[in-house]
Amino acid sequence: MEYLVDQIRSQFPALASGAIFFDGPGGTQVPQAVIDAVSGYYRKANANEHGFFPSARRSDAIIAASRLAVADFINAASADEIVFGANMTTLTLQLARALGRTLKAGDEIVVSRLDHDANIAPWLHLQENGAVIRWLEIDPADCTLRLGDLGRIIGHRTKLVAVGCASNAFGTITDVAKIIAAAQRVGALTFLDAVHFAPHRPIDVQALGCDFLACSPYKFYGPHSGVLYGKKEALERLQPYKVRPASDSIPDCFETGTKNHEGLAGVGAAIDFLAALGRDFSANYAKGLEGYAPGRRRWLKQAMAAVTDHETRLFSSLLEGLLAIPGVRIYGITDPGRFNERTPTACFTLAGLTPAHVAKKMGEQGICVWDGNYYAWEPMKYLGLEEKGGAVRAGLCLYNTDREVDCFLESVKKLSAVNQLA
Ligand SMILES: Cc1ncc(COP(=O)(O)O)c(C=O)c1O
Repeated sequence: MEYLVDQIRSQFPALASGAIFFDGPGGTQVPQAVIDAVSGYYRKANANEHGFFPSARRSDAIIAASRLAVADFINAASADEIVFGANMTTLTLQLARALGRTLKAGDEIVVSRLDHDANIAPWLHLQENGAVIRWLEIDPADCTLRLGDLGRIIGHRTKLVAVGCASNAFGTITDVAKIIAAAQRVGALTFLDAVHFAPHRPIDVQALGCDFLACSPYKFYGPHSGVLYGKKEALERLQPYKVRPASDSIPDCFETGTKNHEGLAGVGAAIDFLAALGRDFSANYAKGLEGYAPGRRRWLKQAMAAVTDHETRLFSSLLEGLLAIPGVRIYGITDPGRFNERTPTACFTLAGLTPAHVAKKMGEQGICVWDGNYYAWEPMKYLGLEEKGGAVRAGLCLYNTDREVDCFLESVKKLSAVNQLA
């Protein structure tokens, strides 16, 4: 199976600018199909929900189709288990508030020191309801979680375990299946942050058996928005905060106010874009985005497998190149034999230069990387990086190329060399 990166890139208008987008972990570019779906919504379907007129009916159909597409993307049993929202952070804060209603003083919530704050702060707020927070700690040697502590941290008082599938700072993929099994042994609920994981690996909520999972379509080629999966029985047990005339049925009762309809049109199109890649990889089907929903789950799986291969190959060169540059320090797994335990996201510092300086210099050359903590505030503090301006983050995704990796490495080399001379 050939990975036709140029053909894939030709579908992303923003890539024509020549910029090198290594900022995927902060948000990816979108293919033309997503742009068309968003603008098409405004042309043909712009209306509020559940009206008796054609544009409202079309709008309802688009939202329902996108819900189904997300269910396929994460292999949910039903589209009713998909809640749409502004972004993962807002959805998680809302869910935490609803879960807070079910807690008693002394109930324990387990969170992870490795996570983005959107999967920590919402749960810390539940201390106001009497919840006690227990932490899964980091092994600083490779920026993984100390899962050996699970038996000590998760116990009969645990009501919820909230962990990330992958770190948006270091790329570490956590063995969440092991954590879910430990949580289930004591009857605790599980919440997974799959925001950084979703663009890089397939998600199967039924196989995982998690109660909740959240991700953000703008990290996987869609519009700025958020998605929350809740197992039907888990959603049904909760009473979300809502306005009185709004529906009491799931998932509607979790979706406060009017949704971002045009964005949701784009969410479905982003998933169909990925499915179309899988379809094209698997066989030479005719091009075109129509009419392949029945095979979508299979094609999505194939697409993600091919994307993982492509990204891992590129990442191997990127990491090897970085490790050879004087002054570079990498945070996270560096052993190529363990690349199945990480995403293609490199977190590094360059001796003598602040991360902001490195990112600024690279930005001036059209190389988009992030600096700072990317809201992975706890691990940055834990590693002593926060007070030094965090670290530089370069993340690969499906449209990146060998040439871009070479340009990036050349740029880091030059910064390192200038610094050595100074
Ligand atoms: C791992 C992770 N979790 C949560 C979030 C927050 O997502 P959102 O921007 O949709 O609120 C991000 C955003 O960068 C992230 O990378």
